[in-house]
Amino acid sequence: DEDDVVSKVPAQAQICAGCHGPDGNSMVPMFPKIAGQHAAYLEKQLKNIKANVRMSPVMMGIVAPLSDEDMAVVAEHYAKQAPRSTPSVSNGPGSVGEKIFKTGIPGAGVPACASCHGANGEGIAPGFPRLAGQHANYTTSQVKAFRDGQRKNDAAKMMRMVSAKMTDADIAAVADYIQGL
Ligand code: HEM
Ligand code: HEM
Repeated sequence: DEDDVVSKVPAQAQICAGCHGPDGNSMVPMFPKIAGQHAAYLEKQLKNIKANVRMSPVMMGIVAPLSDEDMAVVAEHYAKQAPRSTPSVSNGPGSVGEKIFKTGIPGAGVPACASCHGANGEGIAPGFPRLAGQHANYTTSQVKAFRDGQRKNDAAKMMRMVSAKMTDADIAAVADYIQGL
């Protein structure tokens, strides 16, 4: 139960709980869920943010005092937690959001998200993050950040190509579908 999770949170991750939740299933749409995400992906994002390669004013101050070992410890902790999804609003089975996720938008050269992030958004390899169950608000902000060139680490190139031709409505629809996965 929740008390059990809280008692097992490593010291370095106590501060994270305030925004991401003790088990990484943040309840607040602007704070990403990080439960069940690949440890290597989490660690890489923390290092990218610390090095200011991925700009995040909020996370920057948090990661500044963390050593490489601290980052590995917190990444391991959140990777081990069971992820929980949030229902989609109107993009369940048969929706536009599902279509974009599974087949992309062929006319606009947008590839299927499933081809890199997995049929169920589970994340097929450490470099390809889990998306399933993520808050639509966060997914939307990140896809727009890739498209508009604000999130630009080495791996972001792929997402920049994916999102280049997506409209705000396309992004909102697929993000809503992903939240329910
Ligand atoms: C993003 C971990 C503390 C707010 C992230 C990401 C990770 C992370 C790995 C990237 C998620 C992804 O790419 O899917 C941590 C850890 C923490 C911590 C390990 C403690 C050491 C906090 C705190 C806050 C916060 C205390 C709130 C004050 C955010 C926000 C984002 C984020 C707003 C989205 C960043 C963006 O828009 O670029 N966090 N976090 N985090 N975190 Fe934290
Ligand atoms: C990262 C969404 C298609 C490769 C991400 C993230 C989101 C996302 C929200 C950031 C995750 C986070 O911050 O936790 C989508 C959507 C897609 C799509 C909605 C379909 C429209 C693809 C495709 C590829 C791809 C087709 C491969 C060609 C990646 C990679 C990252 C990523 C490599 C990690 C970037 C990094 O390390 O910062 N994607 N994605 N994505 N995506 Fe996608």
